[in-house]
Amino acid sequence: MGREGARTEVLGEDFAERRVRARERLDAVDPHKRPGGIEADPKRQEWFEAVYALAEDDPAAVPWAHLEPRPLLEDWLAARSLVGLRALDVGCGLGDNAEALARAGAHVLAFDLVERAVQWARERFPQSAVDYRVADLFNAPSEWRGAFDFVHELYTLQALPETLLPDAARALASFVAPGGTLLVISRARDNGEDLGGPPWPLARRDIESLAVDGLRLVALEDIPASGGLARHWRAEFRRGEAGG
Ligand SMILES: C[S@@+](CC[C@H](N)C(=O)[O-])C[C@H]1O[C@@H](n2cnc3c(N)ncnc32)[C@H](O)[C@@H]1O
Repeated sequence: MGREGARTEVLGEDFAERRVRARERLDAVDPHKRPGGIEADPKRQEWFEAVYALAEDDPAAVPWAHLEPRPLLEDWLAARSLVGLRALDVGCGLGDNAEALARAGAHVLAFDLVERAVQWARERFPQSAVDYRVADLFNAPSEWRGAFDFVHELYTLQALPETLLPDAARALASFVAPGGTLLVISRARDNGEDLGGPPWPLARRDIESLAVDGLRLVALEDIPASGGLARHWRAEFRRGEAGG
């Protein structure tokens, strides 16, 4: 059995059934599945709000909540230390990945567009050292500009319409300090392959398009599907040292 399947088993059959039912409810209110919806909710903000509101405190009803850090982040962290780094977790959801960054030694600020997500993360981790905030990737506080040695984004880009990728790329790049790193983890598709969506797995050219405003792509892993885990990208971008 793959990691995803094993995890669902740990969370239980009932959890899996509640997730399936929630997915049906969420698809029914997804702007990308009804005429005119995309124009009405271009950033999918109403839909993300609806996910957390309709969940009524049940994590099974938040499709991306696994109540543990994602394996591809954990593997990556296992070989590294983030001790003392200023880290930013983008689109933090219920906080498991942000907590993993903090355990790796970083001073973590984690943000999400949806207030309920942020409250929920704080409730789940009351002793946390992570600073959880409500903010919009596309309109982030100006003091975050160049303020992070390590920026992490997992699964938010693939949940956004393709037309937002250029703005998202500039926003992510803007957070990275001189000498800093951006780590992006996403489901993958081939260039030109249409996978429907949402979510929309990213193509190689989408990943390459994130190297903007002084960021260089320094490592790109194409991780094949195995077990229950779909094909993924794990991509690392770096900004040169100031004056270097
Ligand atoms: C697919 S979920 C992934 C959550 C988390 N990274 C994880 O892997 O569990 C995407 C998250 O990004 C948040 N989000 C969507 N648009 C955003 C924006 N413009 N700014 C900040 N967060 C956003 C959503 O509310 C949601 O929690």
